[in-house]
Amino acid sequence: MDRIRIVGGRPLSGRIPISGAKNATLPLMIASLLTNETLILDNVPRLADVALLQRILGNHGVDVMIGGKRPGDGAYQGQTLHISAADIVDTTAPYELVSRMRASFWVIAPLLARMGEARVSMPGGCAIGTRPVDLLIMALERLGASIEIDGGYVLARAPNGLRGGEIVFPKVTVGGTHTALMAASLARGMTVIENAAREPEVGDVADCLNKMGARIEGAGSSRIVVEGVARLGGARHTVLPDRIETGTYAMAAAMASGDVLLENTRPELLQSALDVLTQAGARISATNEGIRVQRDGAALRPVEVTTAPFPGFPTDLQAQLMSLMTRAQGTSRITETIFENRFMHVQELARLGARIHLDGETATIEGVERLKGAPVMATDLRASVSLVIAALAAEGETIVNRVYHLDRGFERLEQKLAGCGAEIERLTG
Ligand code: EPU
Repeated sequence: MDRIRIVGGRPLSGRIPISGAKNATLPLMIASLLTNETLILDNVPRLADVALLQRILGNHGVDVMIGGKRPGDGAYQGQTLHISAADIVDTTAPYELVSRMRASFWVIAPLLARMGEARVSMPGGCAIGTRPVDLLIMALERLGASIEIDGGYVLARAPNGLRGGEIVFPKVTVGGTHTALMAASLARGMTVIENAAREPEVGDVADCLNKMGARIEGAGSSRIVVEGVARLGGARHTVLPDRIETGTYAMAAAMASGDVLLENTRPELLQSALDVLTQAGARISATNEGIRVQRDGAALRPVEVTTAPFPGFPTDLQAQLMSLMTRAQGTSRITETIFENRFMHVQELARLGARIHLDGETATIEGVERLKGAPVMATDLRASVSLVIAALAAEGETIVNRVYHLDRGFERLEQKLAGCGAEIERLTG
């Protein structure tokens, strides 16, 4: 199993190209099931999750062709996927596949909307919490689906097609909103989604669906209106920049100090996180090439942050911020409100010398003078990368184990950081 070796203490300076967003790519690939024509996606990141979803879609009969490199393409150019769901051969998504990637549960919406039925395994819990799918099921029921749960599978049926309805989410859910949008696009009549997720990835998926012929208004706000259409067609769409990757490298630059330009990304995708970094003492500026993050040697200031749905501070940057705050001068407090168990990084950060006290959903982080390298491992993607950030500021060598978590969501992580002067390498085998 691969590991990553980091020797801390080097400032970061240079440019980091930001990839297309994982969490937009996955629902966009799933949206291909809505049409028998080809969906072309540009700026797709090279990630294990994308490859896995390709296999999962393959199981339904979807053909994915990866475009070759064009002259002038750099090493970091995103891929182009040509996705064709001309013939859906199977409407079942089995446990073996859904349990490996939760987002694959979302295939339930396009399969049901296009084929009139879907049988999809319940995903089960995961390292960051129980993560139920009750609200996704509620949304489909509101559109006229009949739902049965049998043997760990959700069986959704709408033999005469879905019909528009009112969906009021009692809690903001990204997956629930994606599911509702996909299903409502092919339902008869109008759907209103209240308390919709406002995450930029929802807006990106809605843009793509509109290019495919859907009639969606209000994506990006908490009230979305969808006028169903009889069929959707092919389209070409460029995946938006990954705001979590952007925020992660911004935190890395703040941690290591230095001067880094995050290319091909936009501040409005993560303003709340950039504001927190400014409070902590980083200098953030928007340029026409991307976002510049600078920090001189001055001490980091502590912050108080509570995670929240967009435009609040993202849960997917909580672990990274916690790493940064381990080196602040003073006591920080971070409250996690989205997932109940997303503190698996705390014990590992402690191995590097961090002082963190957990009380329910709040972590109190007492900044320390120094971190010291150690072997660590983590159980999810964002927790793993938080250990990389801590390692950049730790004295001596840190070995991050279970790198496959990182490969799920960060493309060429070690190259991107090494390109800015970090001492980081992958140890294979
Ligand atoms: N929830 C329910 N019932 C449901 C659905 C969600 O109670 O039916 C709860 C969840 O348990 C959670 C909250 O609602 O407490 C929000 O969950 P949400 O549905 O928004 O999360 P998700 O769609 O499963 C996506 C991202 C996550 C990200 C969250 C929150 C993708 C593929 N995943 O998950 O990303 O943390 O939104 O922003 O888009 C990651 O990339 O590392 C990651 C975990």
